[in-house]
Amino acid sequence: MLYKKSIGKLVREAEESGAGTLKRTLSSSGLIALGVGAIIGAGLFSLTGIAAADNAGPAVTISFMVAALGCAFAGLCYAEFASMIPVAGSAYTYSYATMGEFMAWIIGWDLVLEYALAAATVASSWSQYFNQLLLIFNIHIPETLLHGPWEGGVVNLPAIIIVCLLSLLLMRGTQESSFVNNVLVILKVGVVLIFIALGWSFMDPANHTPFIPTNEGEELLKAGKITWGEFFDGGYFGEYGISGILRAAGVVFFAFIGFDAVSTAAQEAKNPKKGMPIGIIGSLVICTILYVLFSYVMTGLANYTEFTGDAKPVATAFEKTGYHFLNTALIITIICGYTSVILVMLLGQSRVFYTMSKDGLLPKIFSDLSKRQTPWKTNLIFMVFVSLFTGFVPVSDLGHMVSIGTLFAFTLVCVGVIILRKTQPNIERPFKTPFVPLIPILGIIVCVLMMASLPIESWERLAIWMLLGVIIYFVYGVKHSKIRKAVKEGTYTED
Ligand code: ALA
Repeated sequence: MLYKKSIGKLVREAEESGAGTLKRTLSSSGLIALGVGAIIGAGLFSLTGIAAADNAGPAVTISFMVAALGCAFAGLCYAEFASMIPVAGSAYTYSYATMGEFMAWIIGWDLVLEYALAAATVASSWSQYFNQLLLIFNIHIPETLLHGPWEGGVVNLPAIIIVCLLSLLLMRGTQESSFVNNVLVILKVGVVLIFIALGWSFMDPANHTPFIPTNEGEELLKAGKITWGEFFDGGYFGEYGISGILRAAGVVFFAFIGFDAVSTAAQEAKNPKKGMPIGIIGSLVICTILYVLFSYVMTGLANYTEFTGDAKPVATAFEKTGYHFLNTALIITIICGYTSVILVMLLGQSRVFYTMSKDGLLPKIFSDLSKRQTPWKTNLIFMVFVSLFTGFVPVSDLGHMVSIGTLFAFTLVCVGVIILRKTQPNIERPFKTPFVPLIPILGIIVCVLMMASLPIESWERLAIWMLLGVIIYFVYGVKHSKIRKAVKEGTYTED
């Protein structure tokens, strides 16, 4: 279970080209677009309003900064690995090289929660916005076709259709998908910038006062009227104040998920040594700046209390400007934004399973490439899997599953950087995480704290999913692992 993949071999494998390998088509700007494509979506356009209304008020702006800081630690660690081991497998591959086969399998299995379930979650929200758009044109989809059976409907049909369309696009080719993604990214970044620019002069300072709404429990605590125990037991934590900023940071963390998807496409980058750090850090920095400005304007336009239970908070805020006739365009662009998130998440998922299959831990079907050099069978299988989730399962609380799965992956990547600096200090690192081990340790602390703030049910579901993974590993993986075969044949080396 502790056999490791040699870094030298990984790099050699990554350098192979031609039939049977992925095609190198992505430039640095294409990679940044891929990151932004995966990042800006439901987290910004839906969760900002919820986090402001329920937890932080206008200080949700600070929550975005806190969440960004946590992601930055993990992002720097990802960048070191992605430039050093530019193979299409992301955290899975890094764990294979540092912590051995079993941990690699665990992380690869865990990434399904991040990529496939994030695609399902966002597709479900996509369907709601799409419905809003059709209503403007007086087209009514029956409610039964907008919700799954557990939400009083039959199936979420638009969500399934978008997942299928995007899976078909991915099967056509990465270059085509990247082109569509670039167009969608330009549109959604455009709408964010327009929202900020047009909304700025309509902000009412009264909406920003007080910037941090008072948390009654924190006041009582300061005055010595209650104890810390009473503070937590009394349900004060997270209801505005400083603790509200922290809880909102956990909520809006979802908005940053996806920067690591850049690393899953490492094998398709033209110059991964340079492109990977630029793609990962670049997309993270761009999104952080946009998020902070966007949330500041949004909470300045409407009072945070107006966002309570609001499914389209951006439209509510935009109504306050003199440009409400642009609302339809806004909804269309938000739909485009969601579309690119689903696209990149589906891309990332297929690339992780492609790599796991290449290593023998999953059946060969997952690494079969089409003439266009895309892992089309994996795309097809995940088209069905994600469709089932998005069409029939109430995905609202699965958002937590996505967060816990992602944070788990981030934690292991941070641990991996520390381990590899010790075990292989001399290996070429085109990008080095600064201040090791401080930055990775801070990354681990922030990720574990955010995981701890998630509900207990998400921990239980994570445990069940992982148990299933462990069973599959012992039933299939151990028998077919290529590394184990090499060990048996006496050809296994660590370098
Ligand atoms: N970060 C992505 C979103 O917010 C998952 O939709």
